[in-house]
Amino acid sequence: MRHNYETLRPDDRQILELVRDFFADLAPAGETRKGLDLGSGPNLYPALAMLPLCQEITLFERSTSNVGWLQGEVRHFGRSWDPFWDLLCEHPRYRAVGDPRPAFANRVSVQSGNVFDLPEGAWDIGTMFFVAESISACPEEFKAAVLRFIGALRAGAPFAAAFMERSAGYDVGDIRFPAVSVGEDGIRSILEPVAAELHLKRIGIDGDALRDGYEGMIVVCGRVGAA
Ligand SMILES: C[S@@+](CC[C@H](N)C(=O)[O-])C[C@H]1O[C@@H](n2cnc3c(N)ncnc32)[C@H](O)[C@@H]1O
Repeated sequence: MRHNYETLRPDDRQILELVRDFFADLAPAGETRKGLDLGSGPNLYPALAMLPLCQEITLFERSTSNVGWLQGEVRHFGRSWDPFWDLLCEHPRYRAVGDPRPAFANRVSVQSGNVFDLPEGAWDIGTMFFVAESISACPEEFKAAVLRFIGALRAGAPFAAAFMERSAGYDVGDIRFPAVSVGEDGIRSILEPVAAELHLKRIGIDGDALRDGYEGMIVVCGRVGAA
């Protein structure tokens, strides 16, 4: 797991600002979109970033314990998310939601499942944060997971994704958390052929690393191309 999001770190602040501004500048679409957050884990901020644009949001997650935690958190999310929501509310499109807790509880549901079983073209907007590179150490699996995420969105759908840059994986006690070492060029080479619009931004480590064994984070915002 990446970390617990108890506080708003400077790197998360930069990511959230980028994603907020990309989503908030999209033309209004009746705010009836169906959103997908793939591999939500302990992180609600990708779904919070989609909240004003969506009528429904699916948190799609493979781990049973994360699914259980998410189901509880969706009903009335904890106060640690308030700084994240406050940052989003610097844009009026987020402020227009009003109280985010009932909106989140009404619109968000949790679905248990594997990225490799996602249906195609089923969602109108999507987020995937720190997931594809953490499934295994296999580059082909990384590419396949990124493409399954994109494939789950309809043509033209906006999306945001974040990746740990050049992650070497890590150990917690006896448990090995593997990773694929990815960089901007590799991510671009996978996404360019399937995206109609693509913006990459690298966020370096600014003194306060999460852990050893990575070089930064890469944030991607874009739109899915025609199939
Ligand atoms: C490193 S965590 C990132 C969690 C969260 N998105 C974040 O920003 O911190 C990766 C998440 O992806 C989930 N995951 C891993 N493999 C998956 C798969 N094949 N299908 C769906 N979710 C998966 C894990 O259970 C975990 O919650």
